[in-house]
Amino acid sequence: MTVNAAAAHHLQLTRDGQLRHFLTLDGLGRALLTDILDTADSFIEVGERTIKKVPLLRGRTVANLFFEPSTRTRSTFELAAKRLSADVLNLDINTSATSKGESLSDTLLNLEAMASDMFVVRHAQSGAAHFIAESVTPGVAIINAGDGRHAHPTQAMLDMLTIRQNKGTFEGLKVAIVGDILHSRVARSQIRALNELGAEQVRVIAPGTLLPRDVESLGCTVEYDMAKGMKDLDVVIMLRLQKERMEGALLPSEREFYRLYGLSQEKLALAHPECIVMHPGPINRGVEIESAVADGPQSVILSQVTNGIAIRMAVMSMAMGGQVAERQQKRSTRKGDQS
Ligand code: CP
Repeated sequence: MTVNAAAAHHLQLTRDGQLRHFLTLDGLGRALLTDILDTADSFIEVGERTIKKVPLLRGRTVANLFFEPSTRTRSTFELAAKRLSADVLNLDINTSATSKGESLSDTLLNLEAMASDMFVVRHAQSGAAHFIAESVTPGVAIINAGDGRHAHPTQAMLDMLTIRQNKGTFEGLKVAIVGDILHSRVARSQIRALNELGAEQVRVIAPGTLLPRDVESLGCTVEYDMAKGMKDLDVVIMLRLQKERMEGALLPSEREFYRLYGLSQEKLALAHPECIVMHPGPINRGVEIESAVADGPQSVILSQVTNGIAIRMAVMSMAMGGQVAERQQKRSTRKGDQS
């Protein structure tokens, strides 16, 4: 499946620019990304209440379709939907008819027949969420929870929320993303978001074997030497080695990778003293990050997880709002045609 940025733009926005699907950050623009962050900010308080509920999706059905393993994304989408008062259906792919050979399209047709209003989709194929958004019944919102190497837009937005909470602004920030950029949908979405929101510098730090061809065209500079790359950083984002996507030997050994690119206390000391440490998870201690750093005072890794709920509440409520607005627009256009 291939993903065309212009087609994605039209697919995920209504005619008046509201979100109706959330597939990629490509083409969304600073105003809409800021709106998502501001909406998420307003939901943080809901998570601090005794009764963590608002009625925005009451009566709606959200189906979580995770065709790849997930801990954080799946759990926080479920919590987000429940906090919005939706009914939530978690399809267990291992025990569903998919394991008996049913196609993705047929699975979706059946879930549509159960009057689902939203599909949250994680899939190993790049473009899977776009494919579903193109074919789904009008009125059903599709949210991309990570597709192949292509995009993980809610992860990037929860990362942006965490950066804004800690730094106040994106202006003037120097941010580095370190490790397996080649296989990372998270890095692609983060680079897009950081550029759109006005970060001063986005660097990737990695060995050549873990960088995509033409990586600079994504909107970043490249540094192969971690000591040089850490200089003056305000934010360092570590990535997991995605062995499940690696074909052939791209590294001499994990030990060698850790020596050169693992974030130790010594390497972190080369950054700005107030540099924050981020990781989308799952973390592999001693492979890409030292435990003392992951659990240390500069780490905001668990805040990222907490912020995932607010960002997913924001995206789900905004996409549902866009779907409703679009249906109303179509209805009034039809009435206008008849009169
Ligand atoms: N960050 C992230 O996508 O984690 P999970 O794979 O656990 O969802």
